[in-house]
Amino acid sequence: MTGASGAILGVRVLMALGHLNVETHLIMSNGPGTRSTPRSSAGILQSYINYAQHVYDIDDMEAGIASGSFRIDGMIVVPCSMKTLAGIHNGLSRRRLVLVTRETPLSEIHLRNMLGVTRPGAVVFPPAPAFYTGQTSVDGLVNRSVARMLQLFDLYTKGAESCDLGYGNVN
Ligand SMILES: Cc1cc2nc3c(=O)[nH]c(=O)nc-3n(C[C@H](O)[C@H](O)[C@H](O)COP(=O)(O)O)c2cc1C
Ligand SMILES: *[C@@H]1O[C@H](CO)[C@@H](O)[C@H](O)[C@H]1NC(C)=O
Repeated sequence: MTGASGAILGVRVLMALGHLNVETHLIMSNGPGTRSTPRSSAGILQSYINYAQHVYDIDDMEAGIASGSFRIDGMIVVPCSMKTLAGIHNGLSRRRLVLVTRETPLSEIHLRNMLGVTRPGAVVFPPAPAFYTGQTSVDGLVNRSVARMLQLFDLYTKGAESCDLGYGNVN
């Protein structure tokens, strides 16, 4: 989770992964938006920590997942800031990698960085709402987006067809 707005997307991903019995490891960046956006303070951040199975400090070099040999099926950066996109473009490599980049409009530098991560196989997935699905709430749009993100990891939730992610009530 990075300092882009849209922390709710990350919370929902963690909740859905928990429901699917997927082992989760959470790292939150120290970016100004991550811990201090009005919406991502208190409540939402607490949700993150509650729903992740393992939580690491961003500075924790001893963390198991800091090692390239740590076995993972994939990594999703959600939400992904333009700064982290740029950082990943310049070196970080992982298995399946999905970047839920939250920014608009996109500058030439953003687009270059997106092309740069896509060539070696990462997926850039801006959480652009699917307006045609008839959702009338932000909640429904978030669920649809999260379901599509998880499909990129071959994980299927009920949310693919409806707006329900299928893990019970979020609130
Ligand atoms: C309230 C707030 C909202 C932000 N929203 C976004 C955003 O949606 N997208 C983005 O790329 N950066 C956003 N930023 C800027 C990033 O937080 C900033 O670039 C930061 O350095 C990112 O660092 P990180 O990727 O290590 O978290 C926001 C910043 C603040 C304070
Ligand atoms: C989103 O999914 C959650 C989890 O299944 C569900 O509780 C909630 O009602 C869904 N939202 C909408 C608008 O369907």
